Amino acid sequence: MAVRGAWPTAALSFGGDYNPEQWPEQVWAEDMTLMAEAGVNLVTVGVFAWCRYEPSDGQFEFGWLDRLLDLLHENGIRVDLGTPTAAVPMWLHRRHPEILPQDEFGHPLAPGGRLGWCPSSPVFRRYALRVVEKLAAHVARHPAVAMWHVSNELGGGNARCHCAVSGDAFRRWVQQRYTSVEAVNEAWGMAFWGNSYSSFAEIVTPGGRTAHNPGHLLDFERFSSDALFDHYRAEKRLLKELTPDLPVTTNFMVGLGPDVVDYARWAPEMDIVANDHYTYGPDPLRHQALAFSGDRMRGISDGGPWMLMEHAAGAASWHSINLAKPPGELLRHGLAHLGRGSNSVMYFQWRASKSGTEQFHSAMLPHAGRDTRIFRAITQLGRHLTRLAEIKDTRVAGVQVALLHDNEAGWALRSGLKPVRELGYADTARAIHRALFDRTVTVDVLPAWADLTGYALVVVPGLFLVSDANANRIARYAEVGGTVLVTWNSGIVDEHNTVRTGGYPGAFRQLIGASSEEFFPLETGRQVGLDNGWRARRWSELVRAHDAEVVASYAGSGLDGVPAVTRRPLAGGGAAWYLSTDLDEGSLDELLGRLLDDTGVTPVTTASPGVEAVRRTAGQRSYLFLINHTDAEGSAAGRGVDLLTAERHDGTVVLPPGTVAVLREE
Ligand code: GLA
Repeated sequence: MAVRGAWPTAALSFGGDYNPEQWPEQVWAEDMTLMAEAGVNLVTVGVFAWCRYEPSDGQFEFGWLDRLLDLLHENGIRVDLGTPTAAVPMWLHRRHPEILPQDEFGHPLAPGGRLGWCPSSPVFRRYALRVVEKLAAHVARHPAVAMWHVSNELGGGNARCHCAVSGDAFRRWVQQRYTSVEAVNEAWGMAFWGNSYSSFAEIVTPGGRTAHNPGHLLDFERFSSDALFDHYRAEKRLLKELTPDLPVTTNFMVGLGPDVVDYARWAPEMDIVANDHYTYGPDPLRHQALAFSGDRMRGISDGGPWMLMEHAAGAASWHSINLAKPPGELLRHGLAHLGRGSNSVMYFQWRASKSGTEQFHSAMLPHAGRDTRIFRAITQLGRHLTRLAEIKDTRVAGVQVALLHDNEAGWALRSGLKPVRELGYADTARAIHRALFDRTVTVDVLPAWADLTGYALVVVPGLFLVSDANANRIARYAEVGGTVLVTWNSGIVDEHNTVRTGGYPGAFRQLIGASSEEFFPLETGRQVGLDNGWRARRWSELVRAHDAEVVASYAGSGLDGVPAVTRRPLAGGGAAWYLSTDLDEGSLDELLGRLLDDTGVTPVTTASPGVEAVRRTAGQRSYLFLINHTDAEGSAAGRGVDLLTAERHDGTVVLPPGTVAVLREE
């Protein structure tokens, strides 16, 4: 079970960040009335309130918080209490300017903003833990407080620090990992350009204007993630001492990846794994990006439930043009997160700010107030969540396809010079996820080290870096009957970001029974054909199949007759496939169709194009989420009662444009 401790609300959680310190206290009463109207039952408070609690060094005042917690409690609203360490008080910046993180050129961040602290700074840590301790001791017995929210989006601003303190901490980290300087030289391949170290003291954080070694860059990303994780754990330890019964979490930013820190490796330290997810308005497939993040969240939280801590009720404010959400999207996105395993729908933020950097970010309660389409949609969603109460103990279960994802692979891919600059780490993962999403096949997006037992199909999409242990685990899964699809750009480097020699994709060569000796990237816009009619772009390889069938070969390019897609049947009944190129949408769909047929993977239901379908179950109970993401009428096969409308459906659910249904299935 993924949740340690009690879930903060008896029902599904609904609410968002609540920042009443930005408003006079008279406004709070209106907040309570409107929160009741909307059905809010959980709010995140105090995330940026350090200067409220500690207006000057060592002077603590919690009167403001007490009044707020009492008010929320009287109104039946539970509190996800932030530790305020994301926002450094100005007096602390003045007293200790050295805590500011420094960019790769050694320029400190300016005071203001947030996360203005070096993750390795012992000075900051001391002040941070002091305020956390005072706060936790103060609220320890307050009945409103239901969970802890450590800091905010750790790494969102201070993830890679190059100050002197970080330099020392990095050297210690490297020494601990490698013990000898010879081992560092070997791991990072420092013989290249004669950059070898003769002592640990020579090692610096990889900043400034030069070309750093890929092994060095990758380890700096690991170190930076570890430094922030250390901060999280220090706060968590303290919170657990003072309030052992309250669950502790921090809000992740799990999207397509690679992420700013290594969430999959952090997740086991979360009592509830929580995420902030913002869609990008101009992306026509933003609902599928949302599903990808939800499927990742399940993958790092043992199947969930996980918590959607933040998303947007309308427009964001950091894009160049911040598109409003079209009608119905607020509801579709909220339900889509639930469908993917969240037990909450939470927003940034409750009331739109009138000042500050994010004064134009949407909120549950817009600037224009209560009589607005957003607030009406919020109250409608609140009512729907009440109707959906019975799904709370269900899980997205019985998923037959796993797709592997590892931040380290993404970090490795973006370090140093690569055959094609603009490859996004998750491009192939997203394309395959999308093809499966369109077929209503649910996918667990799992860490590369996950147990694969029970999955009918495992996809290894552009897993650029893989360790021997993980590659062996994947191979063992296939040898005992599993089917694996390995794509181009997988298994290329080991955990030191060192190329695996002897033919690509080094770590999987043996498993797939094929290898390639040279990459043939394709110019932007160029397409090549395969001899079975499929089309491909961006990438091709000079592949040799030594122990595999050739499913399709390159045709009409410089690689005519060279295997492009191969399949190695395995003794256990499974198969290991290799896809050496970037198939276009239709071709990729056909390939996946064949793989699903071969492995007997079944879709959630049959649905018209653009209708998302996902299922949550518990024992005999089963709930089918149907979301029509299109402007046209859609439909899906389903039988049962729609919890949102109480309407019965006896085989076909008709979904008017942009609408949703959640069937209690029979
Ligand atoms: C993040 C933060 C919030 C807010 C929102 C919207 O998720 O955690 O404080 O800044 O983004 O931009």
